[in-house]
Amino acid sequence: MYYYLLYFGVAKNDFTEQDFDVLLEQARSRNHYLGITGKLLHCEGAFIQLLEGLEVAVKEVYDSIRIDERLVAIKKITEGHCEERYYADWTMEFKDVGIEEINKMENCSHPNVTEYVKTASAVKLLKLLAKS
Ligand SMILES: Cc1cc2nc3c(=O)[nH]c(=O)nc-3n(C[C@H](O)[C@H](O)[C@H](O)COP(=O)(O)O)c2cc1C
Repeated sequence: MYYYLLYFGVAKNDFTEQDFDVLLEQARSRNHYLGITGKLLHCEGAFIQLLEGLEVAVKEVYDSIRIDERLVAIKKITEGHCEERYYADWTMEFKDVGIEEINKMENCSHPNVTEYVKTASAVKLLKLLAKS
């Protein structure tokens, strides 16, 4: 039995290409060690991330992210147990999308990703991660 956790976070400052490289290298190496898989979506200064693995490992990593100074705000969207991993092949898949792309995929017209996340259900956000 695995555990999953989906959250939304807002970056303190704009991430440069180098910032993303550093973040992903750090995340993927620790995730590999802890057996965490998942997907990280970045959209104009905000992140939507799904972490999956053993409950204790997922909670440990989320506790680190919660106090990460690169984020100013973080909100857990949903968590729970699951039989299988969605992202078994990825220690952390990454995608960077613009709000226009999200609006197009979701057939809506939100001014930014924060507004989109406010109105979207957890299932919708999980589907968005899968589609992106
Ligand atoms: C948006 C975002 C996503 C992150 N994702 C992960 C992740 O998937 N796995 C991970 O180990 N660290 C991730 N981190 C980094 C952690 O916050 C933390 O810096 C790192 O795990 C080291 O934690 P420690 O100082 O408690 O050892 C992420 C940070 C940010 C800002």
